[in-house]
Amino acid sequence: MSKEVELEIKDLAYGGQGVGRTEEGKVCFVADVIPGEKVVVRMIREKRDFSEAELVEVQEASQDRVVPPCEYFGRCGGCAYQHLAYPAQLLAKWNQVGVALRRIGGFSDFEVQPVVPAPQPYYYRNRITVHTREGITGFYDRSGRRVMDIRRCLIASEPVNQALAEYRGRRPFDGVRTLSSGESTGFRQTNDSVAILLLEEVAKQAGCGKLLIDAYCGSGFFAKRLRGQFEQVIGLEWNERAVAAAKTDLLPNETYLQGDVSELLPSALAQVGDDASVLLVDPPAQGLAPQVVRSILEQPCKRIVSVSCNIATLARDLKKLAPLYELTTVIPLDMFPQTAEIEIVAVLEQR
Ligand SMILES: C[S@@+](CC[C@H](N)C(=O)[O-])C[C@H]1O[C@@H](n2cnc3c(N)ncnc32)[C@H](O)[C@@H]1O
Repeated sequence: MSKEVELEIKDLAYGGQGVGRTEEGKVCFVADVIPGEKVVVRMIREKRDFSEAELVEVQEASQDRVVPPCEYFGRCGGCAYQHLAYPAQLLAKWNQVGVALRRIGGFSDFEVQPVVPAPQPYYYRNRITVHTREGITGFYDRSGRRVMDIRRCLIASEPVNQALAEYRGRRPFDGVRTLSSGESTGFRQTNDSVAILLLEEVAKQAGCGKLLIDAYCGSGFFAKRLRGQFEQVIGLEWNERAVAAAKTDLLPNETYLQGDVSELLPSALAQVGDDASVLLVDPPAQGLAPQVVRSILEQPCKRIVSVSCNIATLARDLKKLAPLYELTTVIPLDMFPQTAEIEIVAVLEQR
């Protein structure tokens, strides 16, 4: 039988794992715990610098511990924080943003604004991706190896749960399927009510000016909101359907170019000049490609508004831009309550 040890939880790392130290001083990661708790854990993996364990018993529970409402929580790979009261989730995410910007980004003098809460901490997802393996339909478990039989997802909206019930009723073949509420043309922000808050925050931070470049623009979610604030708007996106959707309802000051941002950005930035122009970037989780960073350093813009769903790659990219740009504002938004994910808006000003 694997070794059981007592731990005091000191922190919640990005990803949702609690962090404690064994008697020997080795860092130990364990899920489903809360800072301040005293717990018994069972070692499941011993590495040279850290170990991983599973929770056996909570000896002294945090006041922030709540009963997870979902029957699959703890096994399903989707949620990390259902055992944590919602205000404590926001605080944990706020802390993780600061840690990543310090440790990965190398920043020391910055302020992270309080995390913008989600109006609905449950039933918010407008789409889910489900897998069918050997006749079982649902989400991967925490190990990522097994598909769990999921009848209902408490973070998915009611229409998405209805779509899940209908899909399961059809006894699908093995494969992957995205179930969503409403039509989608390419990328769509996952949480509609937080997407509105994000849109308004980005509009506020972008301000107004001559040229807005919306890189990774999808179907123009931000560009459409901002086209009234800028003399000219250029959207860059490689998804054909998203660009076609952006091109419907076009005003004379809007242009959408289809292709790789790495290739399209230099000529868009060449139009910036000395005027008050803004570059908006909302890349996928992998962050900015090295060529994109190079372009932004070679042809600077007065202000960059960076939207990201991955604090690690955001911190890495901001570090590369730091020689030329000052990080002035960091606003996390809770786009994905109960899960480990964080959406962040960061604003950079040319030095
Ligand atoms: C996080 S989404 C943001 C979309 C949009 N800003 C929105 O809020 O709806 C990232 C977008 O970048 C696009 N994309 C990813 N890599 C790209 C690349 N190298 N060049 C152009 N577009 C890219 C994806 O198709 C996707 O639409």
